[in-house]
Amino acid sequence: MLKIRKLQKKDIKEIIKIMTGFPDAYSKDYISSTRRGSIKWILSYILSCDDIFNSESFVLLSNDKIIGHIAYMKDIRSFEGKVYELRALAIDKEFQGKGYGKRLIKYIENELRKIKTEIIWMQTGGKDEVLYYEKLGYKLLCEWENYWGDGKSRYVMLKNLKYATAKSRQKFNN
Ligand SMILES: CC(C)(COP(=O)(O)OP(=O)(O)OC[C@H]1O[C@@H](n2cnc3c(N)ncnc32)[C@H](O)[C@@H]1OP(=O)(O)O)[C@@H](O)C(=O)NCCC(=O)NCCS
Repeated sequence: MLKIRKLQKKDIKEIIKIMTGFPDAYSKDYISSTRRGSIKWILSYILSCDDIFNSESFVLLSNDKIIGHIAYMKDIRSFEGKVYELRALAIDKEFQGKGYGKRLIKYIENELRKIKTEIIWMQTGGKDEVLYYEKLGYKLLCEWENYWGDGKSRYVMLKNLKYATAKSRQKFNN
């Protein structure tokens, strides 16, 4: 049985294990360093903050096993709380291609709508992921070349929740 619930401290180890399987998206350093913005930092920060208007993190469980994760964080520039960044999406390799990533994105978009979010943005490192998010209604804003200094690009993507029409919402939800 599938279930989505808020992150708990005991989940962190399992989420990190899933992400370790995707070194292109989540390098060892990005996952485990203690610096601000690393995955470990994000998860601890969200747990400590406990404020849905600031940030939130959700795990997807299949028969009580964690198989996916997604989070949002308030944009540091705030924009009166209307802009949030999607973070740390990952679906366990064994469970990919079953619509679970899409399910988590739709879930978090609905949570963000409840708190009157207008814009969601995120960055990703792969062209495949750009296509993936485009299918879900995100638009490519820019390619940030040589982001980490290793020749690879990061792609910044954005979705306007406020102006998504009922029709397009229906399309993306199916
Ligand atoms: C990206 C990721 C979350 C997708 O999760 P998933 O559960 O496998 O994807 P879904 O099954 O929800 O796919 C939904 C749709 O996207 C399509 N899709 C899946 N992967 C895709 C890809 N790499 N490129 C283009 N489309 C893709 C599916 O065909 C499906 O389309 P449909 O609705 O028309 O059938 C998952 O592959 C993952 O965890 N990757 C590694 C970590 C990562 O890259 N995270 C994102 C960092 S920003």
